[in-house]
Amino acid sequence: MIRLEGVTKRYGDTVAVDDLTLEVPSGEVCVLIGPSGCGKTTTLRMINRLVEPTSGRIEVDGSDIMSASAVELRRHIGYAIQSVGLFPHLTVAGNIATVPKLLGWKRERIERRVAELLDLVGLDPAEYGTKYPRQLSGGEAQRIGVARALAADPPLLLMDEPFGAVDPLTRERLQAEFARIQRELRKTVIFVTHDVDEAIRLADRVALMRDGRLQQYETPEALIDHPANKFVHDFMGADRALKRLGRVSVDDVMRAEAPMIRDSDAEDIMRAACGSMRFVYVVDAEGVLLGWMDCVDVAGGVHPDEAITRIAWREAAVQSGSSLKEALSLMLALGFRSVAVVDGRGALLGEIGLADIESTMTAGDSHMAQPTEESAGEESS
Ligand SMILES: Nc1ncnc2c1ncn2[C@@H]1O[C@H](COP(=O)(O)OP(=O)(O)OP(=O)(O)O)[C@@H](O)[C@H]1O
Ligand SMILES: [Mg+2]
Repeated sequence: MIRLEGVTKRYGDTVAVDDLTLEVPSGEVCVLIGPSGCGKTTTLRMINRLVEPTSGRIEVDGSDIMSASAVELRRHIGYAIQSVGLFPHLTVAGNIATVPKLLGWKRERIERRVAELLDLVGLDPAEYGTKYPRQLSGGEAQRIGVARALAADPPLLLMDEPFGAVDPLTRERLQAEFARIQRELRKTVIFVTHDVDEAIRLADRVALMRDGRLQQYETPEALIDHPANKFVHDFMGADRALKRLGRVSVDDVMRAEAPMIRDSDAEDIMRAACGSMRFVYVVDAEGVLLGWMDCVDVAGGVHPDEAITRIAWREAAVQSGSSLKEALSLMLALGFRSVAVVDGRGALLGEIGLADIESTMTAGDSHMAQPTEESAGEESS
């Protein structure tokens, strides 16, 4: 648990943080958001004692952070920053191993941990461990930044716009990965962003700041539906129904029985699999999505192999942990009425359709969970 009580930070006449009181329960993600200069970074840096408050008190797991040394405190706090900040002269493995080395871990343990973390953030340990930061894309570097922050398994994570410097698509993937990782690890996290969608997606609770002052600290739903003032209302934006879709995970809505065949299945099995479908997904022996087969073509006499569209799963599927908003956006981009849901390795988990999204929206608006007959029929055709 992290507790700030009446914390203020002044720089001369500037009040960077103004009487901030905030409590983040263990295992929750608090997203700190607000316009540039509102005091987000200053708040994080006070928690790991890179900046000292002018007044007020900060507690981590019940004890005042001033009661132990800053070094001791930081061992329990992972920190990932705005500009990634990887050490350029160290390999990826060396970067991730920084804190474990400081803690005096044995070599084998460090190697195991590095491989485990690279795996966790979706990068192949054999390929990436020996690379240098300059050989990484922006998105890869940010993943390494997150892996490094997690290295010594700290119960607390402070993340300052960890996905700030990448394109929107990569950002969505990093968010999905973060959501997935957080579901497993249940860290106590303060996550800074100024992207409202990112906040809505990742937060258990959102703390919205302006000019150093806390405006509202509530669940994303509460900020959307019951803004405390006009600033909160305007900051959260107008497209509330869409924003709410950003709160629902595809995992909670997808149907697990997506029609699929193995790449290696014989011709007659492939034909038979089509049945009354319009298409079936094609997977490899490990279940990784390879593309789909057009059943209308197959019915029309096209050889099954010829009827398969092969496409990289990263382009054509949403990952577990993604939101309905992303699923919808991918459907619109691809021009499909449904889209596959895959795990971090691309293995097919299920499928989500427009009708599923529609019924979720209806449920959210009117508290009636029934999909209409029309929308329920649409998907399988
Ligand atoms: N070391 C410093 N000396 C003087 N003023 C500072 C210092 N650090 C921050 N400030 C001021 O404090 C205020 C809050 O800064 P902070 O970096 O916390 O904002 P932020 O919310 O993280 O902004 P951004 O979204 O741009 O990263 C700003 O007005 C900034 O200019
Ligand atoms: Mg900042």
